[in-house]
Amino acid sequence: MKSIEAFDYFLPTRIIFGCGTIGRAGQYSRRLGRKALIVTGRHSTKKTGLLDKVIGLLKEEGISSVVFDEIVPNPLSTSIDRGASIAVKENCDFIIGLGGGSPIDSSKLIALVAKDGGKCWDYTGVGGGRKPKAALPVIAIPTTHGTGTEADPFAVVTNPETNEKIGVGFDEIFPAVSIVDPELMLSLPPEQTAATGMDAFYHSIESYINLNHQPTSDLLALESMSLINYYLPLAYENPNDLDARVALAWASTAAGICETLSGCVANHSLEHPISGHYNVTHGAGLCATGPSLLEYIRPYIAERLAEVARVMGAPESVIGVEELSKMAVVLLRRLQKNVGLDISLGELGVESSMLSILAEDAMRTMGGLVSVTPGNLKTEDLRNIYQMSM
Ligand SMILES: [Fe+2]
Repeated sequence: MKSIEAFDYFLPTRIIFGCGTIGRAGQYSRRLGRKALIVTGRHSTKKTGLLDKVIGLLKEEGISSVVFDEIVPNPLSTSIDRGASIAVKENCDFIIGLGGGSPIDSSKLIALVAKDGGKCWDYTGVGGGRKPKAALPVIAIPTTHGTGTEADPFAVVTNPETNEKIGVGFDEIFPAVSIVDPELMLSLPPEQTAATGMDAFYHSIESYINLNHQPTSDLLALESMSLINYYLPLAYENPNDLDARVALAWASTAAGICETLSGCVANHSLEHPISGHYNVTHGAGLCATGPSLLEYIRPYIAERLAEVARVMGAPESVIGVEELSKMAVVLLRRLQKNVGLDISLGELGVESSMLSILAEDAMRTMGGLVSVTPGNLKTEDLRNIYQMSM
């Protein structure tokens, strides 16, 4: 019998999950006020008609809305500040984040700055570490199955002057409501399907090996990894496979809960300087360094990796913790290959001459996640893992 240590469980978001649940957006918005700022990207929610649909659903409930569509992938702190000033000027009562991880993370930060003041970067660890007292309520409506931001108190932002990309986490920015409708994800192209699905996989595996892992996230992480391993290649091959989208939507939300309860480890620290400096997709960056990190710290996490191998369908002929833990990395590489993300840092454009700078950047900006990674990693170790990933 495994011993269960003390843990903290806090997850105040109402999660509305299921096909067609987008139809309830107006009903839940009505509880939060009379005017919304809708934060979205430049193209996809307009092209699919989703933005107009949400505006219409709000209107039916007598709620007016303003659209802020300046969000780009790897959102910039300057865009957040602009969005917050619009929310204040327009007297918005709440913020709706509509789209992938970038618009939803941005909606959380806009809600924070609009209510609590200052500039977005003030709230990051390297920008002053300001602690908020309150934020406007947020409704998250994801159209991808990856970030888990619909079920967590985190947001990631990039400073355009320094290229530093940093995650912040505050209880105040948990979404009040998240509407997770898998039908909204049918329009996701294969590359984004793969990248967001692997992001969710890494949230799960990183929480599972985190020194602070706990019983609820352990269960959800194994469930999520098993689902992603089976369904992600199916959705990658056939974007209209609704069964796969439903499974992946749940896997992503479950992985977001894992992030909230236990958190990520050093793979997210390693990735942020990559996408900060090279503007590559977050999920692709994670896939470049993830297998190397797991190999590097395998002696410290062998039993946990053996469990991962089991839920990823390790052959019955593979037995024993040592062999199974190696098999987990083999199966992970196979999954990445099946969805076009068997990728090296070199292929993402990273130069060898940058590795020391990136390792120092990772430790300075995301050292907190390194400290909860088994293996007591130092900056030198991060550099070694980057080197293995080239
Ligand atoms: Fe992530």
